[in-house]
Amino acid sequence: MRTLCEQTASADLAAARVLVVDDEPSVRKVLTTLLSHAGVSCSAAANPHEAITMLQTTTFEAVISDLRMGASSGFDLLREVRTHYPNIAFLMATGVDDVRSLQRALERKHLEREVENYRQHLEEMVSQRTQELQAAMTELEQSHSATLEALGSAIDLRDGPTAGHSRRVLLYSIKIAEKLGGLENQLRTLAMGAWLHDIGKLAIPDAILLKPGALNAQERQIMERHVEIGYDLIKGIPFLADAAQVILAHHERHNGSGYPRGLSGEDIPMCARIFAVADSFDAMTSDRPYRSALSADAARSIILSGRGKLFCPEIVDAFLAVDEDARQLISAGSQTASINKIISGDRLGFGLRSGALTSRATQSEMPAS
Ligand SMILES: [Fe+2]
Repeated sequence: MRTLCEQTASADLAAARVLVVDDEPSVRKVLTTLLSHAGVSCSAAANPHEAITMLQTTTFEAVISDLRMGASSGFDLLREVRTHYPNIAFLMATGVDDVRSLQRALERKHLEREVENYRQHLEEMVSQRTQELQAAMTELEQSHSATLEALGSAIDLRDGPTAGHSRRVLLYSIKIAEKLGGLENQLRTLAMGAWLHDIGKLAIPDAILLKPGALNAQERQIMERHVEIGYDLIKGIPFLADAAQVILAHHERHNGSGYPRGLSGEDIPMCARIFAVADSFDAMTSDRPYRSALSADAARSIILSGRGKLFCPEIVDAFLAVDEDARQLISAGSQTASINKIISGDRLGFGLRSGALTSRATQSEMPAS
């Protein structure tokens, strides 16, 4: 005797209608026969297209479909059923090889999805890290520049009567380098070296640094130590290592008469050779404790007389090619030029155009001439 549950299940099966979809006639036959023996009412279709047509005209409770049917796929039928007949149960029937293929396909799909997710995550991560790095670099750059600005200002303050000297020689040096051409890669080093060239003077006693008269031999010896002191102060700072060489060599002279190493000619770093001309000109055209400023023309004549002796000939020629407008621009900028901007590549730093030279220059503190 059948139980109540078995009777109910049998009644449900009898009410159910199943669509068998398979391109193999023998498989269709076996499945429909088995289902019929179990009391299930079923129909058969040879491909998804035929199945869809039958679904449009007949109500089914379930679909049993093969996975691969020639050019058609059970997945196509599954998609169609899920879209238009969401209440129909769907069974995918397939052979062992098909199951393995399905597993491989799913694994590949899963892997592809993971790779795509990782790619998107990686791109986001790289973009975010790049932004963070740029922000850190900008902050570091600003921090470096602020440190440099403070150091240079400290040097100028210490060396009171030569206020603006560091900015002027920096601007002159860059202008000479522009006239020489081909030194774009060294401008940053030149700018930083020029800006900090006398940092070693921070360690020179006031009695010598600010002495109104000429220095005696011993005092001069102490004063000359400022290049090595400055070099020692700066050489260990990675982003200033090249500039340290300019500091060490800024009093070397073309004929070997300079200090501290008595270098000559091209043994003197190019930036130091350029700087030496700019520094000498500015020193001559500035009031010093022991003498008054020379005129620009007088200083230019002295520089010219040192061509090939104290100074590198080609650099003197470049210096003499710096015109009056540029000199006035430099003089105006000596009070206001942003070291931050100059070192980061804005060579004039103070953003003046040539048309604005005269008005700004006349307001500035021009060296006596
Ligand atoms: Fe110096």
